[in-house]
Amino acid sequence: MTKSVYVLPGDNIGPEIISEGIKVLEAVNERLDLGIEVRYGLIGGHALDVSGDPCPPETLIEARNSDAVLLGAVGGPRWDDCEREMRPEKGLLRIRHALNLFANLRPVIMYPQLITASSLKPSLINDLDILIVRELVGGIYFGEPRGFRILESGEKEGFNTLKYSELEIRRVGKIAFEAAMKRGKRLCSVDKSNVLEATILWRQVISDMSAEYPDVSLSHMYVDNAAMQLVREPSQFDVIVTGNMFGDILSDISAMLTGSIGMLPSASLNEKAFGMYEPCHGSAPDIAGQNVANPLATILSVALLFRYSLGVPDAAFVIEDAVGKVLDRGFRTLDILTDDTTLVSTSEMGSAVIEELKVTK
Ligand code: IPM
Ligand code: MG
Repeated sequence: MTKSVYVLPGDNIGPEIISEGIKVLEAVNERLDLGIEVRYGLIGGHALDVSGDPCPPETLIEARNSDAVLLGAVGGPRWDDCEREMRPEKGLLRIRHALNLFANLRPVIMYPQLITASSLKPSLINDLDILIVRELVGGIYFGEPRGFRILESGEKEGFNTLKYSELEIRRVGKIAFEAAMKRGKRLCSVDKSNVLEATILWRQVISDMSAEYPDVSLSHMYVDNAAMQLVREPSQFDVIVTGNMFGDILSDISAMLTGSIGMLPSASLNEKAFGMYEPCHGSAPDIAGQNVANPLATILSVALLFRYSLGVPDAAFVIEDAVGKVLDRGFRTLDILTDDTTLVSTSEMGSAVIEELKVTK
């Protein structure tokens, strides 16, 4: 049966990196004769400009009718003064929520070729391979009530709500335990249960679940300590599971361990393995339109899309292997450029990956 991928390029560097991701997807599609159909839609600031809504209803309908969504990046200073509900980032949060993509997988893998691009000593990041499982449709990002109010003193106050239900914790916990089973069998749950009730429950539920996964060794860590441990001794981690906001922060820290956030892909999944795939980085307005952005996080997101939503794991390996070969050849975009390597543009990087794709029918 024909599979369809719905593509949402978004804003700033979004369209540039998406073109390279799609170039790779189409090359694999053609060479393996997979018959994948690619359709395009609107999200973020671009959608707001064209349709007056950063997440138009057609985008949700088309996304639901697809097997997977590939998204570039959203946002930029151009839309900073928009009404809160109309900001491009709201469009991204709305599609994640509407599709119930509660499990955000962010693999943090060190390519040995980039070891000198990292800000940490090589001895600390050799063989780094962490999977962050971030809860994506709950927590303080979505908790109600939220908003602004005027206090009796006449002062304005902004407020948000952090809450997690047992169901919300269990379903993302299940994904994390199962991922740990397939990897190093170590799961670290990150919370702030010395202060926050929602995360006291988080710790209890995850602890209770560990009886169902006797082979996984479970540990717990407060988020402040986890941030420190990630830069002190990152190799102690295998799988990390955490809530929405802590996961947002810890995944940016982890990205830098690998040299650049331009290398980090992500998969956001619901319980049926329907997924939306996006690089972890933002829309980088400062370098938009210059053909200098790193497309590898998007290309690696395409690999995850083949693995988790299209059921073609071989294609994922082939793409990941090609990325390694391109780095072996010394090709680097600006963000990962070091001495003795060759600067390439966004589109040259995409073409180099295609040259290294070892797929034949
Ligand atoms: C991410 C981003 C988003 C988030 C922003 C753009 C809303 O930082 O995917 O990590 O906070 O989730
Ligand atoms: Mg983030």
